[in-house]
Amino acid sequence: MKIFLDTANLDELRKGASWGIVDGVTTNPSLIAKEGKPIEEQVRAICDIVDGDISAEVVATEFKAMVEEGRKLSKIHKNIIVKLPLIRDGVQACKALESEGIRTNVTLCFQAGQALLTAKAGAYIISPFVGRIDDMGYEGMTLIQDIVQIYKNYGFKTQILAASLRTTNHVIAAAKAGAHIGTLPFKTLDGLFNHPLTDKGLEQFLKDHAKAFGNK
Ligand code: E4P
Repeated sequence: MKIFLDTANLDELRKGASWGIVDGVTTNPSLIAKEGKPIEEQVRAICDIVDGDISAEVVATEFKAMVEEGRKLSKIHKNIIVKLPLIRDGVQACKALESEGIRTNVTLCFQAGQALLTAKAGAYIISPFVGRIDDMGYEGMTLIQDIVQIYKNYGFKTQILAASLRTTNHVIAAAKAGAHIGTLPFKTLDGLFNHPLTDKGLEQFLKDHAKAFGNK
């Protein structure tokens, strides 16, 4: 499973990228707004840090305007993936942009039927949101499992990006379900490293080594 960082924060991206395990970045209008810079400027800076797919989302909601905004965003850098909300005009814009060779990520997917439509429109990526379904009291991971099965049944090429992953268990379950990509906030990625037995084991190894050889 590819690992993307779900942030527009440059410090977080620099740190994550330095670990050598970040394959791409997802942003959304809320994440861009948090950084306080215009999307073109912020996304260009992100492209300088991470060499991989970088999703930049349109804020237009009407077909023609979405296509125009998508074209503009795609010109910022060759790695830009135009992110579109999963509404009727968004799916239509996905079809239009993909036919021009502009790759799209269709976002805000909350049921498998929406993912079927998105694949039929030829999207490069579909983004089903796990955590936000959990927030409603349902099992969000079922959505990933359903989409994996449906896409497999018909050989759809659209990549499944498990979004709204907030815990280590979310990441493991998404990988087990066969998601192509998981996008994680920095805190979740950082947390994936942790296990108390790793810390305890390392402490013991170093203690034993120092006892035998000193601190050389
Ligand atoms: C994905 O592209 C979204 O930006 C993100 O995963 C949403 O996560 P949240 O539900 O934790 O805001």
